[in-house]
Amino acid sequence: MNFFSYQDGALCAEKVPLASIAARYGTPCYVYSRGAIESAYREFERASAERDVLICYSVKANSNLAVLNLFARLGSGFDIVSGGELSRVLAAGGTASKTVFSGVGKSEAELRAALQAGVLCVNVESEGEIERLAAVASSMDRIAPVSFRVNPDVDPKTHPYIATGLSEHQFGIPYDEAPRLYRKAAKLHGVRVVGIDVHIGSQITEVGPFVAALEKVLEFVDALDATGMHLEHMDLGGGLGIRYRDETPPAIGDYLGALFRRIGNRKLKILLEPGRALVGNAGLLLARVEYLKHGVAKNFAVTDAAMNDLLRPALYDAWHGVLPVTRREGPVKRYDIVGPVCESADFLARDRDLALAGGDLLAVMSAGAYGMTMSSNYNSRPRPAEVMVDGKTAHLVRHREVAESLFASERLLP
Ligand code: LLP
Repeated sequence: MNFFSYQDGALCAEKVPLASIAARYGTPCYVYSRGAIESAYREFERASAERDVLICYSVKANSNLAVLNLFARLGSGFDIVSGGELSRVLAAGGTASKTVFSGVGKSEAELRAALQAGVLCVNVESEGEIERLAAVASSMDRIAPVSFRVNPDVDPKTHPYIATGLSEHQFGIPYDEAPRLYRKAAKLHGVRVVGIDVHIGSQITEVGPFVAALEKVLEFVDALDATGMHLEHMDLGGGLGIRYRDETPPAIGDYLGALFRRIGNRKLKILLEPGRALVGNAGLLLARVEYLKHGVAKNFAVTDAAMNDLLRPALYDAWHGVLPVTRREGPVKRYDIVGPVCESADFLARDRDLALAGGDLLAVMSAGAYGMTMSSNYNSRPRPAEVMVDGKTAHLVRHREVAESLFASERLLP
């Protein structure tokens, strides 16, 4: 089902014309479709109906409270990487006992907050962290449920900045050190080993790397079993890719089917941490063309959205589709879509053939994941509004920032 489509020549989010959202809330503006988010979630749910699975939505992909609240209402758990994300999950009505805490650099305060809240599991990434966690938990008179994130040394075949499961990466504990660390953790006070965790990267478009990582996890789980140490769950991370342009990622059901087949009749509970696959294609960035500029070598459409609003093109050379909100007749020209920020890397798209006029609205597609969450205030640009469409209704779920709010916490010298 397509939640963003042209209806009578006007690009709509569900039943709402994007032009009316721009008129009401201004641009740039992130627009999300509730239906798209729910349908992706249901697909995960359907595909795992036969198994004991907890979907832990990866908050970093899109952490707007309304988005988190939708997932909470759907019964989802959460994957967090900071105290800030924990606060968001709790504020949005999420359940701590369905929340896993990942990340290589958890501070003492963050670990304390997570234990206080009662998270399902801390995904520990180093020997230093298990020692710190044991000390924090003991000081609170608590027992911390833990998994180790193992680094399986598997190439996910994705952009190097978002590959995380190779031995050269800072993530997880080396596979060969896992036996020693599991034995060590079993003897520590304040922690209880309940699982194992793996996450090899993001925007992965083949099943092979997921299966390769899983096989290493299973080998380890079976070896632990043989020593009498029985884990309760396996957390298989996130990473499933989406189609931005012409990628052909596996369907959610095929991806999960391949994993479940390998798991066979082992009885462990399975945790998943999808982010992008749930929200990536459920959002777009709505922008207005401020100027058309015809340079010597190139034509530019300068929009009011910039790299500070959507960093992915500048950071990863990522390709996002760009659609005119209202199709117009007229000569098609090849444009770079750029923003007002003073950097040559400030582009949203390059070499797009479009018929444009100043003032036109453009939709930068597939911006629901890692869009707003990676935005910044560079060039003192207030961040965009966020709108969630539900059928015929558009809800403002975050006000556009105003310049004063950007420096409200700054102070002059006495
Ligand atoms: N679990 C862990 C431990 C992670 O580090 C991540 C993402 C996820 C789950 C969710 O991965 P997903 O299902 O969304 O692929 N900013 C980049 C993506 C960075 C991903 C970081 N970790 C981008 O815009 O492509």
